[in-house]
Amino acid sequence: MCLKRPVDVDSIFILTSFHCYDYRLIILYNFKKNEKLNEGEAAMGVSEQFSFSIRTKIYFGCGSISKLKEIIIDEYQSSGLMIVTDENIKTAGLTDKVSSSLPTDKIRFFFDQVMSDPETDIIDEGAAIAKEHKIDAILAIGGGSVIDAAKAISFMAKNDGSVKDYWFGGKAFTAHKVPLFAVPTTSGTGSEITKAAMLTDPDTKFKGAGVSPVFIPEAAFADPEMTMSMPAKITASTGMDALTHAVECFTNYCYNPISDVLAAEAIRLIGQSLRVAVAKGDNIMAREKMLLGSIYAAAAFDNGMVGIVHALAHPLGGHFNVPHGIGNAILLPKVMEFNLMGNYGKYARIAQLLGENIDGLSDRQAALLSVDAVKNLLKDIGIPENFKSFNIPGQAIDRLIADALKNRNLLVNPRKSSVEDFRSLYERLI
Ligand SMILES: NC(=O)c1ccc[n+]([C@@H]2O[C@H](COP(=O)([O-])OP(=O)(O)OC[C@H]3O[C@@H](n4cnc5c(N)ncnc54)[C@H](O)[C@@H]3O)[C@@H](O)[C@H]2O)c1
Ligand SMILES: [Fe+2]
Repeated sequence: MCLKRPVDVDSIFILTSFHCYDYRLIILYNFKKNEKLNEGEAAMGVSEQFSFSIRTKIYFGCGSISKLKEIIIDEYQSSGLMIVTDENIKTAGLTDKVSSSLPTDKIRFFFDQVMSDPETDIIDEGAAIAKEHKIDAILAIGGGSVIDAAKAISFMAKNDGSVKDYWFGGKAFTAHKVPLFAVPTTSGTGSEITKAAMLTDPDTKFKGAGVSPVFIPEAAFADPEMTMSMPAKITASTGMDALTHAVECFTNYCYNPISDVLAAEAIRLIGQSLRVAVAKGDNIMAREKMLLGSIYAAAAFDNGMVGIVHALAHPLGGHFNVPHGIGNAILLPKVMEFNLMGNYGKYARIAQLLGENIDGLSDRQAALLSVDAVKNLLKDIGIPENFKSFNIPGQAIDRLIADALKNRNLLVNPRKSSVEDFRSLYERLI
């Protein structure tokens, strides 16, 4: 992973002072003196180094949950499995559907208490149960909230103290955990293949990432049928999270040739299928493309980071329960407008990937069309234009900015951003 522009010393200080972010970045930063513009997918110079990995084995396709027994029970020899999920997933019948693919005598505990944007208390509760019942593997069935919670529980099942010590207290992650498997039920976060887990501190409401290879699930069973029960609103918001991952990773300063190709294809797939998935939730082709697109986007950003949409959206989730996908979706076109001139070529390509005709246009003209394409998509799938309905008081903006400034993704955003830029973006949308 390498940056395509120099990083200033203040930025490095920010990175090193936040334990929960990925230290490898500091080591792998490439201090290039010549700033260059991206020129499209795979635009990296041949002499530049990068690394890329997807370590989760992915079983993709309708019926792929039928592989659960072979992998978790036969290959990993689990005889005391804990299923981690949430109430809605259970009510939608997904927990029953998945567990019917597993021998009942191997399932030792159902933990269905996960809430959206999980707080650390629930992780400590889940980990205590995992220890008490001598759980030897964990299967997450749910969206990003459930999978992130399961990542943290699988880690805490083999470590001491409170999860807060690790996420927010500076305690170093160890390499110990119980094996983790995931069945995603949303097509959004891609958490089923990433090394990140987002948790919220219940005292400060700071929402932060734990990032370590220890959180990477051993296997993901990505079955589009498991996403079909998502209501239209959740399909829309989670789908926009996936699109945001792809757009931010495609345009930032941390791209590499592999993340570029994956992010571009994710944008194309999501652009083609999100409207259909929202309009006709039982359209399996659209569900399949959305799930694949979300995985491509996650593989890209897990190796190439995101940008300030995410930095600004996380505090809205932590303090005001704005769903992650909604936060990103509302911010995305405004941040794109702000970022455009940092990378016209890539935004022009995004316009094309989203179906706009850019023939004969300059990069700048075509880049402007990418914003229109996103705004039209948001309108069609019913995402509001601002956060007014969340009743966020203006006095909260300082707190939101303070939390956003702790996010490492600031460093790779296509355009350098300041506190005043953040204030202006929040003020226009809240
Ligand atoms: N670890 C990562 O790499 C990563 C990446 C991006 C986001 N995240 C985090 O993931 C969380 C958001 O996850 P999400 O967007 O998937 O939403 P979510 O997991 O919070 O789910 C949203 C709602 O949809 C319901 N739901 C999920 N699937 C359903 C289905 N098939 N049928 C019916 N209802 C269903 C859930 O019960 C919940 O009420 C946030 O905390 C976000 O910060 C993590
Ligand atoms: Fe996200």
